[in-house]
Amino acid sequence: MRALKDEPIRILQLSRAKFIVQSLSKMAAPLRFDGKVVLVTGAGNGLGKQYALDFAERGASVIVNDLGGNFKGEGSGTRAADVVVNEIKAKGGKAVANYNSVEEGEKLVQTALENFGRIDIVVNNAGILRDRSFARISDTDWDLIQKVHLRGAFQVSRAAWPYMKKQNYGRIINVTSAAGIYGNFGQANYSAAKLGVLGLSNTLAIEGKKNNIKCNTIAPIAGSRMTETVMPPDMVAALKPEFVSPLVLYLSHEDSEESGSLFEVGAGWIGKLRWERTKGVVCRSKNSSMTPEAVRDNWDAITDFTDSTYPSSSQESSAIMMDVLRNVEQSPAKPSSRSASSSSGPDVEAAKAYNPKPIKFTYSARDVMLYALGVGSSTRAPDYLKFLYEGSEDFGVLPSFAVIPAQMGMENVITSGIPGMSINPAKILHGEQYVELYKPMPTSGTLTSKVSIADILDKGSGAVILINIDTFDEKKEKVCFNQFNIFAVGYGKFGGSRNSEAAKAPGKMPSRKPDSFLVEKTSVDQAALYRLCGDRNPLHIDPSFAAMGGFNKPILHGLCSFGHATRHVLKQYGNNDVTKVKAIKVRFAKPVLPGQTIHTDMWKEGNRVMFQCKVAESGDVCLSGGYVDFHAAPAASASTAAPQSSALKCDLIFEELGRRAKDDPAIAKKINSVFQFNITQGGKTAAVWTTDMKTPGGAIYKGDPKQGKADCTLTISDDNFGDMVTGKLNGQQAFMKGLLKVQGNLMLAQKLGELFQAKSSL
Ligand code: NAI
Repeated sequence: MRALKDEPIRILQLSRAKFIVQSLSKMAAPLRFDGKVVLVTGAGNGLGKQYALDFAERGASVIVNDLGGNFKGEGSGTRAADVVVNEIKAKGGKAVANYNSVEEGEKLVQTALENFGRIDIVVNNAGILRDRSFARISDTDWDLIQKVHLRGAFQVSRAAWPYMKKQNYGRIINVTSAAGIYGNFGQANYSAAKLGVLGLSNTLAIEGKKNNIKCNTIAPIAGSRMTETVMPPDMVAALKPEFVSPLVLYLSHEDSEESGSLFEVGAGWIGKLRWERTKGVVCRSKNSSMTPEAVRDNWDAITDFTDSTYPSSSQESSAIMMDVLRNVEQSPAKPSSRSASSSSGPDVEAAKAYNPKPIKFTYSARDVMLYALGVGSSTRAPDYLKFLYEGSEDFGVLPSFAVIPAQMGMENVITSGIPGMSINPAKILHGEQYVELYKPMPTSGTLTSKVSIADILDKGSGAVILINIDTFDEKKEKVCFNQFNIFAVGYGKFGGSRNSEAAKAPGKMPSRKPDSFLVEKTSVDQAALYRLCGDRNPLHIDPSFAAMGGFNKPILHGLCSFGHATRHVLKQYGNNDVTKVKAIKVRFAKPVLPGQTIHTDMWKEGNRVMFQCKVAESGDVCLSGGYVDFHAAPAASASTAAPQSSALKCDLIFEELGRRAKDDPAIAKKINSVFQFNITQGGKTAAVWTTDMKTPGGAIYKGDPKQGKADCTLTISDDNFGDMVTGKLNGQQAFMKGLLKVQGNLMLAQKLGELFQAKSSL
């Protein structure tokens, strides 16, 4: 029993001992290349010759490539390669010559395949020099250097690559130079090519990883015919190629796992290089352009190597930017040297007296229509033609367009700074927006905006800057007023007041269920379209930029969601009559992604319609505290109105479903049945709708089925229907509770999921 118990331990110990012995023997064993085929370019002289001799001595079959010209790349000949091949053979090694230029990479690799049947290792060593001070470099000096060093390395590596991939093994050594890494007088052409070689290597290391192809770069120093023109003879003799070659052999061996690295090597010394980066400092903003002043003010921190890092991949390199965009505006960051701080807060009185130059904004009907498209107006809804077609009788401008002429004024304040307060644009958030209209926005013209600072509030973690902008038309009549509420993170605690009478406060949503709602799916190109109206921040279009901000995709502009919401309220309560709107207020809570669905809940309170928007897919509130003030009490809301067809929730839902079915004919195909919906209100039938999914592309219309009978008839109240479609009410439970009555083929009702799923993504 004891022996059995001890057995597993003994086996473990044994196997461990065996492993150690194996590892030791591996370390002690010489690095051999038996069976391996090595191509060394430029192997007729200097370093290349040394590599070729050393590989052959350790069992490799070597292709000795050399064009045989002089060190400037002039002439050609077979002697250089032949001498080395003969020397290898004389020592009992295996070698074959190739006299092509590296620019003909295919031919070099072909020599390897024809003579030895494979290619395992490539050393891109061939090189020439055509040194001249920069102003004197000729096209030939430039082109020849690029061709031999960079294009040559590319041609040879590309020719070998498929064979290496296929055999799942390959080693590539590329050769750069200190001149490329650090620069060197008279070698602009050579430096450029040599650093190009490093870039090539870095990417080959990444692309070769899954096929066990390792690629490294060396920057050697050795005496050769190339260096004898610039080094004293003693040094040329002392810096032997033998002191470089062992690194090339080690990196080429199958035991070496090294890849994507850069080494300096010479005189028997080897060192590895990596990129070092300062900790850095944020001097740009999410919503404003970056200023040279912000760079100047942060220069010491930008260039300070204390707490430096060593990024080793482009992902690691950009990770810091993602972190910055994710965190900088949320956590009260340390203000930069010239920023406001708790000890030196803004001079509120000086800021209030600030009187910048008025801003002119000229626009045409085209800009107005582009804006309407930018905030989701579509010709699919015929009542939107008035915003999209200058030939419409009642062509008009959406009231939310009022933010566009004013936006530039707000941006100028942020970028140029406020007296007593130098703002770091990277620490700015657009908190709220208020718009007041004195007359409908003109469909074209030149507007002049006057900017002032209404107040600066101390919110502890930051300062709220209230920027008021009055906009006038060509007759000097006031058209609109904007208040931008800008939150400057980290500028608080300056002893200022928390509130201001000048602030336009957000609305408070009533606690009752919304009186009505509108659901609308935004286009995946919504942000791409909206940015053409002026705000070209790449965060809204460039996926890599959005990723840096911690978003999966570019996000919609807050003012674009604001435009959607205003349009919803205007449609629902203002009959799309732009003359009725007096004021709009909103608070930006969370971003919306293009393609997501904006669900606007609305409550009518006298002349005011309160609203709040959610992203239907996530349930997140994206706009809060919203309201639209009308000049006169707006039309009654959907649920408070008499049960007439236009006030029913189901009407809007079916209209949207009809558009969705048209956009995606696969839905109709999947459902392939005719449903009749009897929608009730107050216990009476208020509307009948038919969804005919047997008609190709689907036909959704008000009334009984036009052809034949429905396969399935559903009876449900307008409210419950709205809840069921938005997922608040489960269809089966509604049926069990008697809230939903089904006649005809009950099983077909299951298929409604398809339709409602489509709706939920509307
Ligand atoms: P080298 O002049 O002694 O040898 C280069 C060989 O490349 C020559 O035999 C030449 O005929 C051959 N060659 C030139 N153009 C060719 C082409 N188009 N096709 C095929 N072969 C061609 O030079 P060295 O010093 O041995 O340099 C080898 C490599 O090391 C070069 O890439 C060079 O840029 C690099 N290097 C050398 C340094 C040194 O201290 N020797 C310093 C930094 C880099």
